[in-house]
Amino acid sequence: MKLLVLPGDGIGPEIVDQTLRVVNWFTENAGLTIEIDYGLAGGASIDDCGVPLSDEVFAKAKASDAVLFGAVGGPKWDALPRASRPEMGILRLRKGLDLYANLRPAISFSALLGASALRPEIVRDLDILIVRESTAGVYFGEPRGIVTSADGARAATDTQAYHENEIRRVCEVAFELARARNSRVCSVDKANVMETGALWRAVTTEFGNQNPDIELSHMYADNCAMQLVRAPKQFDVIVTDNLFGDILSDQAAALTGSLGLLPSATIAHGAAGQNFGVYEPIHGSAPDIAGKGIANPIATILSFAMCLRISLDASREAALLEEAVRLALSGGIRTPDIAAPGEKTVSSAGMTDAILSRLNDL
Ligand code: NAI
Ligand code: MG
Repeated sequence: MKLLVLPGDGIGPEIVDQTLRVVNWFTENAGLTIEIDYGLAGGASIDDCGVPLSDEVFAKAKASDAVLFGAVGGPKWDALPRASRPEMGILRLRKGLDLYANLRPAISFSALLGASALRPEIVRDLDILIVRESTAGVYFGEPRGIVTSADGARAATDTQAYHENEIRRVCEVAFELARARNSRVCSVDKANVMETGALWRAVTTEFGNQNPDIELSHMYADNCAMQLVRAPKQFDVIVTDNLFGDILSDQAAALTGSLGLLPSATIAHGAAGQNFGVYEPIHGSAPDIAGKGIANPIATILSFAMCLRISLDASREAALLEEAVRLALSGGIRTPDIAAPGEKTVSSAGMTDAILSRLNDL
């Protein structure tokens, strides 16, 4: 398979370098054939050619089977107008490649870290996957804009719109992923007060009836926000729209308290049944620690594990890698971001060394 690597800015290149050591381990030891190419994205691309993602890099992404993305942005580019900022690079990839399903696992590592998690009894061993629709809904609906009327008063409009096909295809992804987990999906909407919510519920219900092997339930978004805080372990896979998914996935990630540990993917089903995806950590470019060699590479390494499972159909290898990460953590290996006061810490490379050595032992 062809993997396009876009390191980006700040700690992006550092954590991607570490992850490539893991990629190499799999090509050398697990018989996987992964052909790697590179491109610039974000601020690095702006400095090079004036745009956060060039046509050339976009074309390379299109010709690849998957993209491994580091992180973009930083103070150097903060003054740029919104439309030309580094973050637009990733948006162009998602929208241009029609990557309609954003996958955000919320996994708590508190049991392995021994850290004082927010509320250990509630989040211990938490493992939720949120599937967020990511190319439609209120962030893209037309008409939108701010108009000023004759009396000088301003009014703003956004439009929440969904076509049933957009709902069905994200359901397909959620159901497929649920089959590899516990075969339970909770669909989240506001069917009680929104037309898009009523359609969302109708389409997901139809889809659920056609796929009776999955246990489908429904929940209103406000209740879901409350249940995530009260009893998050009741959830396995959540499927929801763009706006609710944005908020609920950040909320779920915060429950785990592991910014440097959480991966993500944004995917689409290909015509031939394969999944194309962009795989990236949920955190940003961390300019405060860039260049120090101490960034936690685990979120990016686990993003590659998602890539193995979803785009390479290599679930066994993905499980192996996830186990190696868990063993490194339970063995007390810590980068500074996850270390308790006084605990011994390692560099980014030291964490990767520990993961590779567990892989060799497994
Ligand atoms: P951030 O996620 O970069 O950093 C927040 C805090 O977490 C910082 O203290 C940072 O040092 C720490 N942190 C993050 N990842 C870490 C890791 N792997 N290991 C150890 N510590 C880690 O968020 P922030 O500071 O709000 O944004 C910094 C820049 O990143 C901004 O330019 C922002 O626009 C951009 N950003 C980019 C994203 C992307 O590329 N997808 C996502 C979020 C922010
Ligand atoms: Mg968000």
